[in-house]
Amino acid sequence: MSQNQEFTRALTRYAAAIDAEIKEELGIRLDEFMRGAISYQFGWVDENFKEIEGGNSGKKLRPVMYLLAYQACHPLGFGAPLAPALPVAACLEMIHNYSLVHDDIEDDDRARRGRPTIWALWGKPKAINVGDCLHVLAFRRLHRAANKGLTQERTLRIAESTSDMSVRLSLGQHKDMSFEDTLEVTPEMYIDMIGGKTAAIFSCALECGAIAGLPEPLDESVVFNLATFGLKIGLAFQIRDDILGIWGLSSETGKPSGSDIRRRKKSLPVIYALTHATDADREQLLEIYQRTDPVKPAEEQFIMDAFERCGAKVFSQNQAEKLRSEAEAALAEAMPDSIEKNPPLKQLHDLCAFLVERSF
Ligand code: IPE
Ligand code: IPE
Ligand code: MG
Ligand code: MG
Repeated sequence: MSQNQEFTRALTRYAAAIDAEIKEELGIRLDEFMRGAISYQFGWVDENFKEIEGGNSGKKLRPVMYLLAYQACHPLGFGAPLAPALPVAACLEMIHNYSLVHDDIEDDDRARRGRPTIWALWGKPKAINVGDCLHVLAFRRLHRAANKGLTQERTLRIAESTSDMSVRLSLGQHKDMSFEDTLEVTPEMYIDMIGGKTAAIFSCALECGAIAGLPEPLDESVVFNLATFGLKIGLAFQIRDDILGIWGLSSETGKPSGSDIRRRKKSLPVIYALTHATDADREQLLEIYQRTDPVKPAEEQFIMDAFERCGAKVFSQNQAEKLRSEAEAALAEAMPDSIEKNPPLKQLHDLCAFLVERSF
């Protein structure tokens, strides 16, 4: 099965249940604008809040991976009941989407999922408020897990993990923005930054899947190894996002192309090229990256060509593949000898190829 088919298979299994859980939360004490704007973010309505069919709701990778981990850890496998696990799935997808609403303000991006971003439609002040509300709604939903069959103890532990993750996400976003104004970003600083802004939520999703699904008493080594798997695959996922941010097609990613270059983001190809480009290219790259005025279209083209010439794209893809191998090793460590015998675990494993080879 191709990596795209593998992704579609995993998404189809859970997408409707995740959407229904989020919609249930939006039905509780919201007004028309807030429910409408959040539903717009999820691709369910247009900017006039009229319902649409087949909108782009995003890939839902974090809740899908959480639910696969939950069922992989549960003695009933794919037969494990979804109801007790769904509030946390919804919570993860809502935190992810709040972070996107704020990220598009922070990155000044006007398009996402092939449509205008919330701030491009309603302005930055209202978009900040929509993001804030969505962030808190995520936790309001999470607390319902205990009413839907998850024990109080496990719900509390998951609440601690998700709260801590959300703090790390904000710290990572701060670093990402701070790096726009400096050339002193080492590969270690870069990994630390994406560990916060992107990999923390993947790690948390996998950890929470184990906490929700494992039988008593929880096997802490499984929890730890699944969290490590999530961290590594999250890092690989962000490196692929960096590649798509430069060489991806906006018709496929749904995001503006070249935005990372224009904002002088220190994504992995940039960090590599600033130290590995030929002397002539490096001099010109440094000159462009030291300035603060807008990057001109001809400079943008030069940057992309210089990156290609020094192998920055190939290097970055290799780094993503290396992290994917480390992730797969952690997954095998989590549940030795069971990948072929445990269908949800196998699906989680097979999804990894999509995360590092995707074009959207
Ligand atoms: C986008 O994440 C933000 C990153 C961490 C790169 P996704 O690519 O998972 O976004 P959607 O939800 O599918 O649109
Ligand atoms: C990803 O940020 C992390 C978060 C949104 C928290 P990016 O800025 O790299 O992702 P895209 O490319 O806008 O989706
Ligand atoms: Mg962004
Ligand atoms: Mg960003």
